[in-house]
Amino acid sequence: MTAARTPLIAGNWKMYKTEREAEDYIQALLPRVSSIDGADVAVCVPFTDLRAMVDSARGSRVEVYAQNMHHEPEGAFTGEVSPLMLSDVGAQGVVLGHSERREQFGETDRALALKVPAALAAGLTPILCVGETESERENEDTDRKLRQQIKDDLVNVPSERLTDVVIAYEPIWAIGTGKVATPEQAQEAIAFIRALVGDRDAQAAQGVRILYGGSVKADNAAELLALPDVDGALVGGASLQADSFAQIVGAAAAR
Ligand code: PGA
Repeated sequence: MTAARTPLIAGNWKMYKTEREAEDYIQALLPRVSSIDGADVAVCVPFTDLRAMVDSARGSRVEVYAQNMHHEPEGAFTGEVSPLMLSDVGAQGVVLGHSERREQFGETDRALALKVPAALAAGLTPILCVGETESERENEDTDRKLRQQIKDDLVNVPSERLTDVVIAYEPIWAIGTGKVATPEQAQEAIAFIRALVGDRDAQAAQGVRILYGGSVKADNAAELLALPDVDGALVGGASLQADSFAQIVGAAAAR
């Protein structure tokens, strides 16, 4: 059953790397991952790096994703970028609902309910991020939070397209903190998310890829990626160096 789900290792660069730095990185990354089999690889880059990365990664196994988008194809939305613009530039996917966007830029579940199907309609793979805060976990509110996010954010995605969405479980307390979820915590939350997708569609639950994110590093990746319901990782800090990111890709392929 899990064998049917190819793991995805996605690097979330956040607001790092000028075009020159991105070029140096991709030239270092491509040879390091070219012979690794059994895992999909994506780099989620700032808008300004998209075209250069699409050009440099063309013909390789590395896909290039954006980190946010508006849901409309065009319009009077100053400062925004549309799904159409992303697919036009050659991006293959987009991170949606990252907790930094939810917490610092007011991204709502209502907006995500529009963005996720808009990404799919534009031929982009959405990586939908969900996860609880530290106090929600302490108050045993994790299940409620995940249930609400999965329900609200996927409400407009038809059952037959659920497997085209990638979900990233990112406990907010583990992002950029060096505090990684224990394997038990990661497995339990991700199995719970899979069951929530199963409430919509049993078949989709078996096919949908669910990643873990939050302080994934080269030295803890193998343990997390070996968990039965974990289908890859969304990697922030450790994705910024080609070497450590390639090691994580290797750990996914070896699982
Ligand atoms: P981190 O970030 O790996 O640096 O914790 C993960 C993320 O924000 O996606």
